[in-house]
Amino acid sequence: MVKRRLPRPLEVISLIGFRWPNLNRKQVNLNKAVNIWDIRELASKRTPRSVFDYTDGASGSEASLNRARETFNNVEFSPRVLRDVTNVDTSVDILGIKNALPFAFAATGFTRMMGYEGEPAVARVAEKYGILYGLSTLGTTSPEDLAKEVPNVRRWYQLYVRREREPNEKLIERVKASGYETIVLTVDTVVGGVRYRDVKNGLTIPPKLTLKTLIGMARYPKWWMNLLTTEPLVFASLDMKDSGGTVADLLSKIFDPSITLEDIKWLKSVWNGKLLIKGVQSVEDAVMLKNAGVDGVILSTHGGRQMDKAPVPLELLPEVRKAVGKDFTVLIDGGVMAGTDILAAIGLGANAVLIGRAYLYGLMAGGEQGVDRVVALLKAEIEMSMRLLGITKLDELTPDRVRIR
Ligand SMILES: Cc1cc2nc3c(=O)[nH]c(=O)nc-3n(C[C@H](O)[C@H](O)[C@H](O)COP(=O)(O)O)c2cc1C
Repeated sequence: MVKRRLPRPLEVISLIGFRWPNLNRKQVNLNKAVNIWDIRELASKRTPRSVFDYTDGASGSEASLNRARETFNNVEFSPRVLRDVTNVDTSVDILGIKNALPFAFAATGFTRMMGYEGEPAVARVAEKYGILYGLSTLGTTSPEDLAKEVPNVRRWYQLYVRREREPNEKLIERVKASGYETIVLTVDTVVGGVRYRDVKNGLTIPPKLTLKTLIGMARYPKWWMNLLTTEPLVFASLDMKDSGGTVADLLSKIFDPSITLEDIKWLKSVWNGKLLIKGVQSVEDAVMLKNAGVDGVILSTHGGRQMDKAPVPLELLPEVRKAVGKDFTVLIDGGVMAGTDILAAIGLGANAVLIGRAYLYGLMAGGEQGVDRVVALLKAEIEMSMRLLGITKLDELTPDRVRIR
């Protein structure tokens, strides 16, 4: 028999956890999200279905994205114990400059559709945390405006080569004049991958007011109010307003399917800053591009939005690193949903990782605060996992500490 006693008032008082309620409901909901999957869930409740699907979806069977995520789940780390891990340094070097975290923001088109605060909000968070921001050719903020609004963010410009050369050169001049340090040339979009969710939802860029969308308005009045009371959505880098179709249609209409290594030579002749090539999916192409004199490659399947059943970048990474040597910059992206995904890529040889959807989920879930929450969650996961792995610097995370089961 356990002996009972009367509750003692002082003990009861010490158990009371009363705090003044936080009246910022957006922040309360964001704080309840314990990981990026929760932020994704919140995003799906805050944005019309077609917009969420455009962001969340991938091409064809969506196997490229699903397999990339599965592979991250199949990672197994080898932790070491009895090391002093009081202080950890999460920074990496990207093209000779320190990035405070081992990840950066990938370029994503049409960001103001996901959240009306758009590219500048995302760039402000990048600036706050000391990480890189990539602006897309399909961005809804111009390179000049972004540079003006967030002048101190370290910024890259993601370029798509258009069929006609002249507008490309003019755009590169604008990018140069606005202080972008690196051009990221995306080469996996010779045509648009077919994204069935967009086709089924009838999503056009920009979204059209159809009967279906009008019905949807009632469910997402805030999103529509924000869309209709801010500057119209335009491709701010391009001299066109409306694609008149899905993103796949748009890509196929304006981007050049004939680009080859010769175009990289041309680009190097008109751009004297750093040059990365994004969308590399084989060891052979990585070596070819290294020999062509670019500054680095990004192993990427466009987040599974282009080629269906493409290789998993994380699986390709060790072989690519072996073939290009330790001094060539290799970044990787696709499917990152956790800090441990980022650590796995660093361990297997990436200089850094890019994230796309993760920050867009944040933007849809809660604007700038949502993007901030995403970075804070990833940062905390990275710091905690580094300690549990027994490392204080990321170069201690060597390939023998990571395996894919
Ligand atoms: C909604 C969306 C739009 C994107 N737009 C572009 C783009 O304009 N240019 C580009 O090079 N990549 C674009 N990407 C691909 C990203 O740069 C990146 O490769 C991808 O998002 C990484 O996968 P993750 O979203 O799973 O992190 C886009 C991705 C998404 C999700």
